Amino acid sequence: MSARPKLRLVVLISGRGSNLQAILDQAASGELPVAIAAVISNRPGVQGLERARQAGVPASELDHRQFPDRPAFEAALIELIDRHRPDLVVLAGFMRVLTPRFTDHYLGRLLNIHPSLLPKFRGLHTHERAIAAGETEHGASIHFVTAELDGGPVIVQARVPVLPGDDPDTLAARVLEQEHRLYPQAIRWFAEGRLHLKGEQVWFDGRPLPGPLRLADVIDGL
Ligand code: GAR
Repeated sequence: MSARPKLRLVVLISGRGSNLQAILDQAASGELPVAIAAVISNRPGVQGLERARQAGVPASELDHRQFPDRPAFEAALIELIDRHRPDLVVLAGFMRVLTPRFTDHYLGRLLNIHPSLLPKFRGLHTHERAIAAGETEHGASIHFVTAELDGGPVIVQARVPVLPGDDPDTLAARVLEQEHRLYPQAIRWFAEGRLHLKGEQVWFDGRPLPGPLRLADVIDGL
């Protein structure tokens, strides 16, 4: 048994929470050495909150519409998150733009999953845009969050083919399946102390990462 205490995780969501579910499942099975301290949604009543409660994890709502502006919402969000003393905060389908005040506060301990092969297709409607652009490959990325929207250093990516006849929904489903493997893997590395942000650079196993890791290489042990 490792003497390392379990990583304390706070997960931020805005909706369905299928990535949250993948993290909850791996934490419950012991594959992921984390303690999920809290799940917080900026949208009341979403499915992800129910998933957290089913797993016995404290779930709270902080409705951004109840605040006069973005800084006021973020100040309350920081206070709520920090009550749980997280080692790592993960954005799992959290659909709010964050200001530097927030991203600086958690710099180096804030991860996001984005449904594209960053730096391609930052922002919304990534599957639709990948198809429209005629991409033959698409995927998802895990990155450290910095002040630049979807612009922080990328840690690991999962790739899927874009197939003839794909529409945004079929492509999204193919990507999502990979997302559910991708996020737990990145969190595991962080929990094991293998992953760090130094300046604008991702460090992995004590070395600067020349480019994003590829999930297939990691899983297949290449
Ligand atoms: C996921 O596809 C995630 O990559 C995406 O939202 C979905 C959330 O699904 N995130 C973003 O677009 C962030 N800009 P989930 O709630 O079922 O995990």
